[in-house]
Amino acid sequence: MNGTVIEFRDVSKIFPKKDGGEQRVLDRVNFAIPEGKTTVIAGRSGQGKSVTLKLVLGLMRADGGQVLVDGQDVSLLGKKGLNAMRTRFGVLFQGSALFDSLTVYENVALPLRERTRKKEDEIRAIVEKTLAGLELSGHESKFPAQLSGGMRRRVGLARALQLDPEILLFDEPTTGLDPVMTQEIYQLFAHTQAEAGFTAIIVSHDIPRVFSLADQIIVIDHGAMDVFASSDEIQRSEKAHIQEFVRTTMGSLYQSHLVEQ
Ligand SMILES: Nc1ncnc2c1ncn2[C@@H]1O[C@H](COP(=O)(O)OP(=O)(O)OP(=O)(O)O)[C@@H](O)[C@H]1O
Ligand SMILES: [Mg+2]
Repeated sequence: MNGTVIEFRDVSKIFPKKDGGEQRVLDRVNFAIPEGKTTVIAGRSGQGKSVTLKLVLGLMRADGGQVLVDGQDVSLLGKKGLNAMRTRFGVLFQGSALFDSLTVYENVALPLRERTRKKEDEIRAIVEKTLAGLELSGHESKFPAQLSGGMRRRVGLARALQLDPEILLFDEPTTGLDPVMTQEIYQLFAHTQAEAGFTAIIVSHDIPRVFSLADQIIVIDHGAMDVFASSDEIQRSEKAHIQEFVRTTMGSLYQSHLVEQ
């Protein structure tokens, strides 16, 4: 335990711009994701959070540097190798991406059908248990269009957890959820992690609340990444752009609380 599962070494990601110039979304960034821990990636919209997750999964290729998963350079993997690597991940992308023509049950059962040889009664038992844990029992036969936004998120979460993944990548898992449900999702997450011991990367705007889950926090800004061991460490940072981040995302309440101490 406590090795490094994912590592970025001097990784750059560049997109061409229409005017012939280039957009350097990531500029030689470095970080390591420790095994069995939760890393939160924060940063303003368009700073490269989702791009970072796509690079990890090999859905995008880096334009410089190395993306390592278990020490293996993702860019050197062929189709087969990539598929094998991806089976270790549970992924919840922005927008939850459920299949509209499939019921809740079918959506959650899909990874088990596609990636395992389990029999239907086994699949049913697993899916029902996951749905019950996310307070979705009784909604099995509904279609995504018949669910609330928060329920759709939870079905997406159920699907990501289905194969008991070693590594979870969540892109804004609580966007659109009310504060109570957000809190419940985080509690469920902490509980599931304590039981299953997975490694997690959570991209979130839900600051500072999500920081309670974090063992490590990465802030992306203008192509650069800063890595922090705690939210206190972020607040102590003397870098101007990090102080700005604290002011705009953690709010004055959070800061005045600090001043009182
Ligand atoms: N396939 C692509 N082609 C060109 N540019 C892209 C592509 N994907 C992302 N980008 C650009 O890279 C930048 C980072 O995008 P990304 O989706 O990672 O942002 P983000 O940090 O996840 O933002 P948000 O919080 O809004 O989800 C954006 O400026 C985006 O326009
Ligand atoms: Mg994004």
